[in-house]
Amino acid sequence: MSNKSFIAQSERQEGYTHVLLIATGSVASVKAPLIVKALLAHRYVKVEVVATNASLEFVDRTKIAEAGSRVWTNEDEWTGTYKIGDPILHIELRRWADIVLVAPCSANTLAKIAGGICDNLATSLLRALAPTTPTYIFPAMNTLMYEHPLTAAHLRIVRDVIGYTVVGPIGKTLACGDIGIGAMSEWTDIVRIVADRFKLVLVEQEQKQ
Ligand SMILES: Cc1cc2nc3c(=O)[nH]c(=O)nc-3n(C[C@H](O)[C@H](O)[C@H](O)COP(=O)(O)O)c2cc1C
Repeated sequence: MSNKSFIAQSERQEGYTHVLLIATGSVASVKAPLIVKALLAHRYVKVEVVATNASLEFVDRTKIAEAGSRVWTNEDEWTGTYKIGDPILHIELRRWADIVLVAPCSANTLAKIAGGICDNLATSLLRALAPTTPTYIFPAMNTLMYEHPLTAAHLRIVRDVIGYTVVGPIGKTLACGDIGIGAMSEWTDIVRIVADRFKLVLVEQEQKQ
């Protein structure tokens, strides 16, 4: 049972960019610690990670902690101890976030988002998110999953109806051995999108100035 608690009001810090990274059940979730570390190399940035159950196969929680962030899971939402008035994790996380990155976004989570399904911490917070919070989807899946007609339909809804920004996927040799489109965008590009959008400055660069 989880006894971690998160209250947006006390976790948000004036002048900081609060980045919420959602990892889902694609091998590309192994990149989460690299993304966290690179974001936290910038001044005035905080990062929290939400991991789906499937992503926990790939997300190394120790490395995320070493990089300076925390991992939140369904177990932290459903503690079995809820009392009326207690903070609700998916609401607190969406209140906290200035930007949400779904990186990688599995075919399953993409389908859930497009269908409005919110049956876990990640999809509940996305469904409860203010439309003004910039949200980026980085699909990652096998080429045939990507080329499945439902994927195009889901991406259309996510872009045109919900208003998220979809980046990638890119073509390369996938974890399954297939060569083709379906890989998550390079993790460095994901970091750059956030850095550019919020004009983040590397701690290293600032020290030189
Ligand atoms: C080793 C392994 C790798 C997988 N890679 C992917 C992937 O890259 N993209 C994808 O959409 N699904 C992939 N899957 C399937 C998803 O993990 C599965 O659909 C899962 O239900 C996704 O759950 P989530 O969306 O809640 O994270 C993979 C499964 C396994 C066992």
